[in-house]
Amino acid sequence: MRHRLLLLGLLQIGIAWATVLHRRSAPAAFSKPLSVAVDYVNPRLIGNGGYSSGGGSGGMVPSTAPPFAMTRWVAQTRQNYVSVTLYNYTNSVVYGFQGTHQPAIWMGESGPAVVVPGAGEVRSVFEQRGMSFSHAEEITTPSYYSVIMNASEGGQIYAEQSATSRVGHLRFRFENTKTPYVLVEATRAFVLGSADPTNVTYPRGSILIDPRRREITGHNPERQDFIIGPNAAPGFAGYYCARFDAPFGGFGIAQNGTITENETHGDGAVLSGFARFAPGTKTVNVRVGVSFISIEQARRNVDKEIPDGTTIEETAEKTRAAWAEKLDRIKVEGASHEDAEVFYTGIFHTLQYPYEQDEDGHYYSGYDDAVHAGSSYTGYSIWDTFRAEWAWQILLAPERISGMVQSMLQDYKEGGWLPMWKNIVETNIMVGTHADSLIAEAVAKGFRDFDLDTAYNAVHKDATVPPQDDWTISYSDRQQGVGYEVRAGLSSVYAERGWVASDLHSEAASRTLDYAFSVVASASGKNADAAFFRARAWNAPFTIFNNATGFMEARVANGSWAGQDAGWTEGDEWAYTFDVVHDIPGLIEHKGGNASFAEFLDQHFNGGHNDHRNEPSHHIPYLYSLAGAATKSQERIREVAKVKYNNSINDLSGNEDCGQMSAWYIFSAFGFYPVNPVSATYVIGTRPFFEKITIDLPNAKRPLVITSPGAPNKPYVRSVTVNGRMLDSPVLQHADIASGGSIHFEMSAEPQAWASDTLVSGTLRPSPFPCVIL
Ligand SMILES: *[C@@H]1O[C@H](CO)[C@@H](O)[C@H](O)[C@H]1NC(C)=O
Ligand SMILES: *[C@@H]1O[C@H](CO)[C@@H](O)[C@H](O)[C@H]1NC(C)=O
Ligand SMILES: *[C@@H]1O[C@H](CO)[C@@H](O)[C@H](O)[C@H]1NC(C)=O
Ligand SMILES: *[C@@H]1O[C@H](CO)[C@@H](O)[C@H](O)[C@H]1NC(C)=O
Ligand SMILES: *[C@@H]1O[C@H](CO)[C@@H](O)[C@H](O)[C@H]1NC(C)=O
Ligand SMILES: *[C@@H]1O[C@H](CO)[C@@H](O)[C@H](O)[C@H]1NC(C)=O
Ligand SMILES: *[C@@H]1O[C@H](CO)[C@@H](O)[C@H](O)[C@H]1NC(C)=O
Ligand SMILES: *[C@@H]1O[C@H](CO)[C@@H](O)[C@H](O)[C@H]1NC(C)=O
Ligand SMILES: *[C@@H]1O[C@H](CO)[C@@H](O)[C@H](O)[C@H]1NC(C)=O
Repeated sequence: MRHRLLLLGLLQIGIAWATVLHRRSAPAAFSKPLSVAVDYVNPRLIGNGGYSSGGGSGGMVPSTAPPFAMTRWVAQTRQNYVSVTLYNYTNSVVYGFQGTHQPAIWMGESGPAVVVPGAGEVRSVFEQRGMSFSHAEEITTPSYYSVIMNASEGGQIYAEQSATSRVGHLRFRFENTKTPYVLVEATRAFVLGSADPTNVTYPRGSILIDPRRREITGHNPERQDFIIGPNAAPGFAGYYCARFDAPFGGFGIAQNGTITENETHGDGAVLSGFARFAPGTKTVNVRVGVSFISIEQARRNVDKEIPDGTTIEETAEKTRAAWAEKLDRIKVEGASHEDAEVFYTGIFHTLQYPYEQDEDGHYYSGYDDAVHAGSSYTGYSIWDTFRAEWAWQILLAPERISGMVQSMLQDYKEGGWLPMWKNIVETNIMVGTHADSLIAEAVAKGFRDFDLDTAYNAVHKDATVPPQDDWTISYSDRQQGVGYEVRAGLSSVYAERGWVASDLHSEAASRTLDYAFSVVASASGKNADAAFFRARAWNAPFTIFNNATGFMEARVANGSWAGQDAGWTEGDEWAYTFDVVHDIPGLIEHKGGNASFAEFLDQHFNGGHNDHRNEPSHHIPYLYSLAGAATKSQERIREVAKVKYNNSINDLSGNEDCGQMSAWYIFSAFGFYPVNPVSATYVIGTRPFFEKITIDLPNAKRPLVITSPGAPNKPYVRSVTVNGRMLDSPVLQHADIASGGSIHFEMSAEPQAWASDTLVSGTLRPSPFPCVIL
């Protein structure tokens, strides 16, 4: 045992050392493979201090938990609600440690558990219980976090945090304090939308203290997104069981700041329970099991995931191993320290959503408010993730793909529809039914371990059945009091003429384009339907292509144009005119051929219209390649990567959006991107960001090795060889990479003819855009 403890001690020292290393400015470059990729994850800095809108923030937080964990634990530096994250680098006070289900900025929290250490008089009121800390005394890794805080009675509290999927593990060490305690918060007031801080709601929960078992248990029905979406989920709650390793010296209940000593039970709003420990107590460990099913289940989760006697070092080691299992599969050579941090932190971000919603083979479903057998996931923003995040998860986490699809099919069975944006239940956020795309892509890439017939019925329903009262409800963004939004506008002009009418529905032009992107029928082999959907998919987008302006534009029911400001979902006519990813040749034809399409792309970029902060622009730099102007894709992609990603607190130019921002970076670093994800192809972009990348894909027999010697000084692609075969077009098949192999880029310092006929034929001047060399 001593030996083991020594090893674990070294692990902690290793973690601390790695962090110290991160704080120093790192060596400019290193040439040996990164063996411990986990140490390059920088969860504290990357993406959590910038502006919540208008760019400059990933909106992520430094959380500890394994990949896809049901609960992630985070030091809470402010009260979190929609558009406000619970940790913000600009803050200097910790108010507790939260087991959050929303470690990000874009949606509301659901049933969190919060644990607050303290010393002195018990302080339950949020504003009064904060303790100052300094970033210099924080350690942040994916598996372990620690911070030193000043206690209110003097002295310090050294808090350490780790977690498994459903259980948080905290260790509090009290230095020079007299009366240590730990408070467990059941319920709090929360702001309904950030616009009006006085508009609050008070969920009513419960708390029960059992000094004999050293447990504080309770439940919290808070669901901040309850005002949107069709599912009331009346039985929803987060349940928890906090088990301590030290005997209680005293205890009580706090309700909205009023303390009742020796009380073991409380119900209501703004409620907490606390345990005091004998004066002089040095260390208190608490493990907090979280459940969506019951307190008993939360207790079972503790016993199963972090049984009595487990040290926090053991928990951290296990969680670190879970990250290493994924991150060490990818080795990069020739990366600067900054690039390596951006790259591996990106991977860390791509493996958080959707998160596990099942416990011990069962899950609570908010769709029918019942507990079912099976596994389940929640926390999607499919409008974002269908682009590249899903393709990336298919490569790096294939063992979860069928289960994730099966989970969406359960949502369909229990709620009647596939999810759009599921945050416990449907929230109707964004437009389109891109779950269809996820399922089609999974099928196209060989995943079959789910009920294919149900899958077909579910996507067929999306494509053919309009929402309730489709003629009279516009389904505007976050409209309250409406049913499932799905393909709003399907029953109006769309079915007959091909566009969603902008006088009847919000975001009509974006809807028209997004609804067209559905090729699922062919993937499922229903050929009669396939012909119908193909015709629709190929025709509908161009019903809103305005020949007079050369842009997509919304139309009203009678066919008139609605103007270029109307009908967009988080984008404009520039981004959305390129939104025909399944038919780029058709779009090129409408734009007058390759040369004028490439010129249009130049106008888009040179005019500052490419808004990489949001997803509709993500595929656009790749489109030059499909118009015979690959050298220009090579320039643009490098530029976007350099300008929009770095390892500062403002690192991501836009919200991470469940991993899509980082998935763009990761694929671009490999040298290719899934422009049309359901086609099972990738478009080759720039040279890879690093000289050599070795990817040990879980389902592949051999590693995928991507080489591009001399790349840093040679930005242009001369040729690409895949498993020894020269590529004459810039398109890779999924089969080329899925089972490993080699991709070799020959690079050049000068623009090359490869895949660039349009430019070489002299119809275009060389780009004035400066080429970026990293
Ligand atoms: C972090 O806090 C700063 C200062 O209050 C604020 O400007 C920024 O929007 C916050 N960032 C996030 C992601 O909440
Ligand atoms: C904590 O308290 C000590 C001693 O009073 C003080 O020197 C230090 O600056 C405080 N730290 C923070 C982060 O407030
Ligand atoms: C509070 O906010 C909710 C959600 O935005 C809104 O429906 C409600 O009308 C607001 N209440 C008041 C009193 O402003
Ligand atoms: C809690 O107390 C504050 C002031 O002390 C009061 O404004 C608020 O309404 C109370 N909340 C509840 C839910 O009782
Ligand atoms: C709480 O219980 C303890 C132990 O029985 C007792 O000493 C103490 O006086 C009680 N406190 C109050 C406020 O009732
Ligand atoms: C645009 O022009 C093409 C070719 O002349 C025509 O087929 C198409 O109907 C026109 N589109 C619209 C929306 O008017
Ligand atoms: C079509 O509808 C728009 C408003 O929805 C109206 O301004 C326009 O005059 C109508 N055009 C025709 C030809 O009826
Ligand atoms: C446009 O470029 C693509 C990609 O190089 C090529 O396949 C296609 O044939 C070109 N189209 C025309 C009309 O030249
Ligand atoms: C990092 O990227 C953000 C977002 O694009 C940008 O605002 C910031 O200036 C960049 N910081 C550095 C040091 O390059």
